Amino acid sequence: MTTPVDTHRSVQEYQIGHTAAKRIALARTPTELQFLPRLSEEVGANIWIKRDDTTDTVACGNKLRKLEFSVAQALSEGATLLLTNGGVQSNHCRATALVAANLGLQAHLVLRGATSESAPDGNLLLNELLGANTTFIDTETWRRIDEFTAELVADYARTGVTAFAIPTGASDEIGLWGYIRGFEELHNDLLSVGITPDAIIHATGSGGTQAGLILGAALMGISTRIVGINVSDTEEYFTHKITDDLLRWKARYQANHPNPVDIDSLRIEILDGHVGPGYGHADSEVFDTIRKVARLEGIVLDPVYTGKAFDGMLAELASGRLKGANHLVFVHTGGIYGLFPQREQLFPR
Ligand SMILES: Cc1ncc(COP(=O)(O)O)c(C=O)c1O
Repeated sequence: MTTPVDTHRSVQEYQIGHTAAKRIALARTPTELQFLPRLSEEVGANIWIKRDDTTDTVACGNKLRKLEFSVAQALSEGATLLLTNGGVQSNHCRATALVAANLGLQAHLVLRGATSESAPDGNLLLNELLGANTTFIDTETWRRIDEFTAELVADYARTGVTAFAIPTGASDEIGLWGYIRGFEELHNDLLSVGITPDAIIHATGSGGTQAGLILGAALMGISTRIVGINVSDTEEYFTHKITDDLLRWKARYQANHPNPVDIDSLRIEILDGHVGPGYGHADSEVFDTIRKVARLEGIVLDPVYTGKAFDGMLAELASGRLKGANHLVFVHTGGIYGLFPQREQLFPR
């Protein structure tokens, strides 16, 4: 039996200038750009927040913007199964599981790390609830994740199932369209509130959000400082990863373009130094910031991505590479379910 696909949400074209890609509308956009008055007063700069944590209730966050393009591609290739991967508490995998269930597709998630004996928590609980098939792999298998994925796709093909592989975080030349469109939206927000920010800041975890924002600005001819605060790896790693994704995007979408983007001229700014104890782990200052922002402004951040990046932004504003800024825009990329498995660090007893 073939799986019925929800056809009332059809694949359409999103176009910017002479460049276009397939998109299926999944996210509730535009999201709001909000001013944080009490925090701004406390830190002595105007802090704005782009509420991409509200792109949906369960599939919320930046991944949904990217999935609009990855899933459109999957559907146009006739896929009935979305195959993707990430860390055990991956927000991207949970968003993929939700979108698959929404559209009548299957989801298979390959998660790095061991599952615990106890009942699933956070994103893992949602994955199970949404009926995603999950495979847990060790770090050795993770090192050859592309090969492992290709083997799974081939296994599915042998059973007559067309699986579409979405890379980690949907950060490739297709997924980065999510934040080309996201930049266009944010630019309109900025025009309507009448500010020119000193920087647009966000967490960088697999590079797609940053690559998309950078390209969005370039395609619109706008010069804005776009700053990624890396929550894993290093500045060098992300500079290479983002450059590769940008080059692949150009090769795929601007091959015969009259005036293609000059990738070498784009600035990739990563503020390294805030990874702390490592990916998925945060030090006590990050938890302090999460508590402070929640109580002052009613904005909930998470320790893996947005809390770490927000805390990094405040530190850089106080005495670092953002010192002297007047207006800063933080893109809230979601991740709320990653907070629950870290309840003990948030409220030590
Ligand atoms: C909540 C959240 N914020 C930020 C990021 C980082 O975005 P990107 O992977 O596009 O760098 C991710 C995923 O990696 C995420 O889940």
